[in-house]
Amino acid sequence: MNMELSLEMGRNIIQTKSGRLKSYKSTCKKLEKKGLKRNVQAALKKIHDLIGVRAICYYVDDIYRIEKKLKEQSDFRIVKVKDYIQNPKISGYQSLHVILKVPIVFQKEIQWMDAELQLRTAAMDFWANLDHQLRYKKEGEELQSIDEELKECAQMIQKLDTKMLHIRKKIERI
Ligand code: GTP
Ligand code: MG
Repeated sequence: MNMELSLEMGRNIIQTKSGRLKSYKSTCKKLEKKGLKRNVQAALKKIHDLIGVRAICYYVDDIYRIEKKLKEQSDFRIVKVKDYIQNPKISGYQSLHVILKVPIVFQKEIQWMDAELQLRTAAMDFWANLDHQLRYKKEGEELQSIDEELKECAQMIQKLDTKMLHIRKKIERI
């Protein structure tokens, strides 16, 4: 998909991509949080990010180009899109999350499994990584002012991404 889009646009679209399988420990924790029993069927049915893939783009508009392409693709199905770019989380977190059903061949049979694709710019990724290290899923009232500062940084990132996109478009017009 990156190759197709990159050829179409005449520039590279995806900077880096990575993937992970949710660990056993983290899967158990999530099942517990959802009030579910620790079993494989519950995990397969109720946890949508056992398979997690992340693609880092250069520009915000490319994220939506990828989403559009995903919709045209017939080898997997889109279950849900969570647009934390248009609607950032309270924390300031921005990314486009796409929950997909992907066909996994298992013992000669196709099993459709959920996968979470996170699409974000390099700037959003920078913020999310630092937020993850510093704050994400940590509790405490005294952290409120830190939350506000982190949110401010997220808003700066949003401005930066908008500005860089504006510059690219200006250059494209020349
Ligand atoms: P989880 O139980 O955390 O997986 O959340 P969810 O199932 O409600 O899905 P959601 O789309 O809200 O978030 C899924 C993933 O997005 C998380 O596992 C993180 O990778 C990322 N994420 C969401 N919110 C934040 C945030 O505030 N900060 C950071 N750094 N990452 C976030
Ligand atoms: Mg998760």
